[in-house]
Amino acid sequence: MKTHSIAIIPGDGIGRDVMEAAWHVLLAAAHGAGMILEGTRFPWSCDYYLETGRMMPEDGIETLNRFDSILLGAVGWPEKVPDSLSLHGLLLPIRKAFQQYANIRPHRLLPSVEGPLKKTEFDILCIRENTEGEYSGAGGRVHRGTDNEVAVETGIFTRRGVERILRFAFEQARSRRGKLASVTKSNAQKHSMVFWDEVTRELAEQYPDVEVTSYHIDAMAARMVMVPESLDVIVASNLFGDILTDLGAAIQGGLGFAASANINPDRSVPSMFEPVHGSAPDIAHLGIANPIAAIWSGALMLDHLGESSAAERIMFALEAVTARGIGTVAGRNRTDEITNAVLAALD
Ligand code: NAD
Ligand code: IPM
Ligand code: MN
Repeated sequence: MKTHSIAIIPGDGIGRDVMEAAWHVLLAAAHGAGMILEGTRFPWSCDYYLETGRMMPEDGIETLNRFDSILLGAVGWPEKVPDSLSLHGLLLPIRKAFQQYANIRPHRLLPSVEGPLKKTEFDILCIRENTEGEYSGAGGRVHRGTDNEVAVETGIFTRRGVERILRFAFEQARSRRGKLASVTKSNAQKHSMVFWDEVTRELAEQYPDVEVTSYHIDAMAARMVMVPESLDVIVASNLFGDILTDLGAAIQGGLGFAASANINPDRSVPSMFEPVHGSAPDIAHLGIANPIAAIWSGALMLDHLGESSAAERIMFALEAVTARGIGTVAGRNRTDEITNAVLAALD
């Protein structure tokens, strides 16, 4: 029987609740599909930091490298550990070390979910650059505490990084409805975004079957609200993609619905699957987090592992559950009610 080894990092806050839910559903789907998912849990989190002084052990990346995939709940608990330490000690180094350069985030409404828009017919795939750009960490501060203090944050955009994410997005557009929206702010930013637009035009010549349009990030934010049905694949830099995908989550009903896959298409290293949302300290420990985003992320993982029929079964189950109005309205159903309904629908 085919076995996949999965590293599970529940992390902080609701990350723990939604990962528990997703893992139950994944095990049930694996059982039905005749494969084995072997999970190993790692307690790496803000609590782990308070105990050990690190978000993960020194050889954490080496350890993760032995797995086929990584499932992550959420990282961050600003009251215990500053985000600048927690995210830069766990989530961001994993994305970078394994060069998971394509962060794929689907935005569509599951049945009976009422988003804030009056429209329902959209199906957007956001592809976010995930290893460089505005998240490169380059920069510094000088003249601290004086009137002359300056903080510099440098975005780094390499030809290799920009080209590979754009190529990935062109390929995705080709396999969907053939439309690609490339997002920049090249009217205000003079270097990186102009470069991004240039590479987009270069690649467009190699993909004559894809209709590519460049948009400014501000206009795209409005477009996603006003005419989401006009969009197919969106590609954006790390920070712009981060912001647009919380907007995407909002129009699909909320952060509890938005799934994501951090992919390195070169399968020699693990990719990572996690909901778009964070640890939600405001609702942690209440048992009311929506596990759908995490379960959907689990389906993305199975798909990546080549278990597409099991992935499809999970998506059918999710759709059957929301079609009955379970999990569709914030706070109406508890995490375990939604999870049990998905497990029942899988049967
Ligand atoms: P958040 O996504 O945790 O929460 C934003 C809002 O959405 C909150 O009101 C929360 O209750 C709600 N929400 C989020 N997920 C939900 C779910 N599954 N069901 C129901 N409601 C949900 O964002 P934040 O408050 O800005 O961040 C909290 C912490 O999480 C911070 O430390 C932040 O850095 C971190 N964070 C981590 C990740 C990650 O690990 N991938 C992502 C985003 C934020
Ligand atoms: C996300 C999160 C992270 C990001 C944060 C927590 C660093 O917001 O995965 O969307 O910006 O990538
Ligand atoms: Mn985000």
